[in-house]
Amino acid sequence: MAAERPRVLSGIQPTAGSFHLGNYLGAVRQWVALQETHDTFYSIVDLHAITVPQDPRALRESSRLAAAQLLGAGLDPARCTLFVQSQVPEHAQLAWVLNCVTGFGEASRMTQFKDKAAKQGAEGTTVGLFTYPVLQAADILLYQADLVPVGEDQRQHIELTRDLAERFNGRFGRAFTVPGPYILKEGAKIYDLQDPSIKMSKSASSPKGIVWLMDDPKTSGKKFRGAVTDTDTVIRYDPETKPGVSNLLTIYSALTGIGVGELEEKFTGRLYGSLKTELGDVFADWVAPFRARVQEYLDDPAELDRLLARGAEKARAIAAGTLADVYEKVGFLPAGAH
Ligand code: TRP
Repeated sequence: MAAERPRVLSGIQPTAGSFHLGNYLGAVRQWVALQETHDTFYSIVDLHAITVPQDPRALRESSRLAAAQLLGAGLDPARCTLFVQSQVPEHAQLAWVLNCVTGFGEASRMTQFKDKAAKQGAEGTTVGLFTYPVLQAADILLYQADLVPVGEDQRQHIELTRDLAERFNGRFGRAFTVPGPYILKEGAKIYDLQDPSIKMSKSASSPKGIVWLMDDPKTSGKKFRGAVTDTDTVIRYDPETKPGVSNLLTIYSALTGIGVGELEEKFTGRLYGSLKTELGDVFADWVAPFRARVQEYLDDPAELDRLLARGAEKARAIAAGTLADVYEKVGFLPAGAH
């Protein structure tokens, strides 16, 4: 029965625009697979997005685009709960309570905050950005999640979430499941096509290194053909000495399910160019049905909004119970008493 499955919650910011291959192979694909084995909650975290300036129209569009891509990738509203964070007011409400059990020093130690704040300067940094990890803890704790599938860069935020859950439970009585991280598989890590020493990410230096799923596949084909490799000629998986070629083999394998060893055999005696061209074709075939599905959702925003509203309703059914318990435990008067 679904209720006995371990519960998973994860979140994705809506601001990426098109997902890139790194997002898909690193995270989204695992989210889709987890629907089969876990009780899954996935949130498009627009409250987190406004911790840095956002254009309101663009934000609305990005949220719909993120939803359409998640659905196009295979999230199934019948098997998971997909919702937009701002449509479940309990996130902001629980975040406030958690802010009040978080130490200032504790929050100040979050490395992601320190990095971003250092880049933006004190005046350009919002208090929202400072308390971002506390909101993330609220996202997780509201649903009593057992596991949080995230990349390695989120480990510290999950640790904070665990600390806050334990502290609250200890001080006020048990309200929260203490979640564990579910660090996404290293094998799914995709690197930049121009600089295979860094992971594929939208903050990369050159746009030629990132493959966007919503781009015309011809554009992506060019990027694969221009991928940085090495001066050797052998097509062999060896991330240490041949990071570029290895990355191409990883992507090829992830998209087709063909093992890397088998690919090495297949490409024995062939030139890098043929691997690059063939990978571009493999990608184009793979991405076409995805783009078509996404476009269908985008063409019917009313239906998309209805799906999200239903997701928010399902999410609230759980979140409201947790929040009511928390409010009672911290000593707030019962609401709605006549
Ligand atoms: N901070 C996460 C990231 O940047 C996004 C996120 C927000 C999240 N809330 C979450 C991830 C809750 C997991 C669980 O990737």
